This record gives sequence, structure tokens and C-alpha cells, in this order.
Amino acid sequence: MDSLKIKGGRPLKGEVEISGAKNAALPIMTAALLTGGTHTLCRIPNLRDIATMGRLLAHMGAEYRFENGTVTLETSRIGTREAPYDLVKTMRASVLVLGPLVARFGDAWVSLPGGCAIGARPINLHLMGLEKMGAKITLESGYVHAKANRLKGTRICFDMPTVTGTENLMMAACLAKGTTILENAAREPEIADLAQCLAAMGAKIQGAGGSIIEIQGVDSLKPIDRYAVTPDRIETGTFMAIAAVCGGDLLLKGCRPDHLDAVIAKMRDTGVDFHESKKGLRVVGPRRLVAKDIKTAPYPGFPTDMQAQFMAMMTVAKGTSIIKETIFENRYMHVAELQRMGADISIDGGNATVRGVDKLKGAPIMATDLRASASLVVAALCAKGESVIHRIYHLDRGYDHMDEKLRRIGAQVERISSS
Ligand code: EPU
Repeated sequence: MDSLKIKGGRPLKGEVEISGAKNAALPIMTAALLTGGTHTLCRIPNLRDIATMGRLLAHMGAEYRFENGTVTLETSRIGTREAPYDLVKTMRASVLVLGPLVARFGDAWVSLPGGCAIGARPINLHLMGLEKMGAKITLESGYVHAKANRLKGTRICFDMPTVTGTENLMMAACLAKGTTILENAAREPEIADLAQCLAAMGAKIQGAGGSIIEIQGVDSLKPIDRYAVTPDRIETGTFMAIAAVCGGDLLLKGCRPDHLDAVIAKMRDTGVDFHESKKGLRVVGPRRLVAKDIKTAPYPGFPTDMQAQFMAMMTVAKGTSIIKETIFENRYMHVAELQRMGADISIDGGNATVRGVDKLKGAPIMATDLRASASLVVAALCAKGESVIHRIYHLDRGYDHMDEKLRRIGAQVERISSS
């Protein structure tokens, strides 16, 4: 397993090209299951999770190709409608095949994801919605089996907003008979992006990006024709945190600052400067950050996917910060690693209290999940001395060539290959 050796404390300056969003690309790849034909998807990030999704679709009989950020999928000959345990356990987003498969073929077998490094993460709301649309759901040997002749449009109200749940049911509803209304839907920009792609395929969707989505089912859809996915707001936010903590001056190109309003507002309060222009978003870190509190919330609130990186910033801020994680119950795996670098953090239930220290010190540390790994990169870049982050395959799941992007802005980063 590869590691990343980082010598911290260097001033970072330059340009970063933001990649397409992982969490938009994954559902859009599964949307290709809704109809046979050749689909072309553009601005797809080069990530381990994208390759895993490619393997999953190929396992079902799709022809998958990734070249220079373009994915081609030929989905005319789907044989197995099964998402096997081995693939689902490495990537929970595999569950996104469920809606499209049931909608197009009338059945699907998907391994139940189970818990993961950040929490229990059930899929009961995905299943509740499909049942309301007329699917018969059974659980056999750890697999969910969903079966329906043709799904029927209905009104579905989510107990809480779920991102992949909203995406699964929105895709399923595209081919259902009649109109489906999703209430208390998740409002993340990736959902609006998926809806835009589905509309280009011929789907009739209104309200995506808001909490009520109305989908009028159609009989057939067209293949995806060169749809370019939205920029990755979490990669953007992570580079913002890097500029913030290193007193850096970065120009983030090709990003969507309007998808990061809550993060930008909070970082401004901590002393970070933002300048938006046609060239991109310039982010300038202060000499020392000021501690501020955050509470994660569904979009448009402060994203849980930025909690760990913000915490890394707060470890060296002036003052004390209270961080409340409200989306996932176990998303503090980075805390023990940050403590190894000298951070002063205590956890009490869902709250973390971070007392800023003058400096972090480099140390050997372990990546435990995707965003926890990103927070360790942020911390290592500002720490005094050398850090080695082990198990960075977690980082490779969600960040497109992060080590190369960091080297281009002056960071001293070396990938140590295990092979
Ligand atoms: N939930 C349920 N039942 C369900 C579905 C969700 O109780 O059927 C709960 C979850 O346990 C959680 C909350 O609802 O407490 C929200 O979870 P959500 O379903 O929105 O999360 P997700 O769809 O599994 C996506 C992203 C995550 C991101 C979350 C929250 C993708 C592929 N994944 O997960 O991204 O953290 O939304 O914004 O879009 C990441 O990229 O690192 C990542 C984990």
C-alpha cells in the first residue's frame, strides 16, 4: 500500500485545476444503466472509486472505457443484474445501481452495504421508496432483491434527506408509470447535476436541487451524449483548507464557489481571504487562523465531507473551536491521528473541542477513510518536519492525483510505492 511523505511548513502558491466531482460522476455512471446504447461522460476524475464503478458495470455486462477524463459505457447487453459483495464492500456508492436496474429490467440483486468507517449508513430509505413505487423487496443471504413489473409513480417523503437515496429514487422514477414526487429530498448540487444529465437523456424532472422533486415517468430514454459533470466542491474545499492553513495563495481554477457558500463564509470568519474572478477562486490564508465553531448539516449547510479538513485547520488556530458532526455518528477517525501530531482535541459524543496549538509536529500517521485522509494531508502540510501518511489508497479513492497537484504549488510531497 502506498504512503505519502510530506515535509510541512512550506509556503504554497500557484494554480490548482479542480477535477470533476466524484459524487456526481458515480450516480451519472449508473444512470447509463437506464437505457441501452453508447454513453459518453466527460470531466470524469481519475479515481479509484470511478474504476470500481467501472468494474461493477463491466461485471453486469457493460463495456467500460476510461481515457483522459472521458468514460464510454456501452450498456446494450446487461446480463447480470447483480452488485456483488466484493465490490459493494469497497464502495458503498455501488448501491446506486439499484434504482436504474429495477426501473429498466424489473429486478436487481444488490449486496447490503453494512456499516463502514464513518457510521452505520443504512439504506432503509432507498428501499422504502422503491417499495412505495411497487417493488417487492426481500433480503436473502445479505443481498437485497428488488423486483417489479413496472414501477409506479407515487409520493415519497424521506424521514431525513439522503443523497444517494434521492438519486436512486429519482433515477428509478424516470422510467416509472406516472408521476413521482420526492419530498424532503436532499439538495446537494450533485443531485441537480444528475437531474440535468437525466433531462438531457429525455427524462422529465422538475425541482432537483430543492427539497421537492417531481418526476414524470417516460417510456424510454436516450443514451448520455457527452455530459460533463460538475466540478468537485469537496476537492475545492480541501484545497481551500490547504491554502488557509499554510498561509498559502492559491488560484482554484474551474471550480463552482457558489456550491461552497457555507464553507467560504465560515473560512472567511477564520481569517481566510477569497477573491472570485473569471480566472477562478483565489484563496489567501492569514498568518494565523482564528478559531470558529461549525456544525455539519445537509446542503446548503456546512458539509460533513469538509468537517475533518476544517478540524485540521482549527488544530493550529488561535482559540478554541467546537465541532459538531450531525450526519454520521463515527466521523472522528482522524482525531487520534491529529493528536499524534500534537493537536489538542477532546471528543464528547458528537462534539469535538479543538484547542488551537502553535504548531503541529510531523509524525507517521494512518489514513482511515477518504476525508480523514484529506485532513491528515492538510495537517501534514502545515506541520513542522516530516509526516508519512500510510494507507493513502483512501485518498486515491476520491482525490484525482492530489500528490501531483500539491507538488505543482510547491509542496514537498513524495509518494512511496509499496511495490
Ligand atoms: N440514512 C438513513 N437511511 C438511509 C439513507 C441514509 O438513515 O436509507 C442516514 C445516514 O445514515 C446518514 C444520513 O442519512 O446519517 C445522510 O446520509 P446520505 O444517505 O445522505 O449519505 P450517502 O448518500 O450514503 C453521500 C455521499 C457521502 C456524503 C454524504 C452526506 C456519495 C456517493 N456519497 O453519502 O460522501 O458524506 O452523502 O453528504 O454521494 C465522501 O465523498 O467522502 C462521502 C462519504
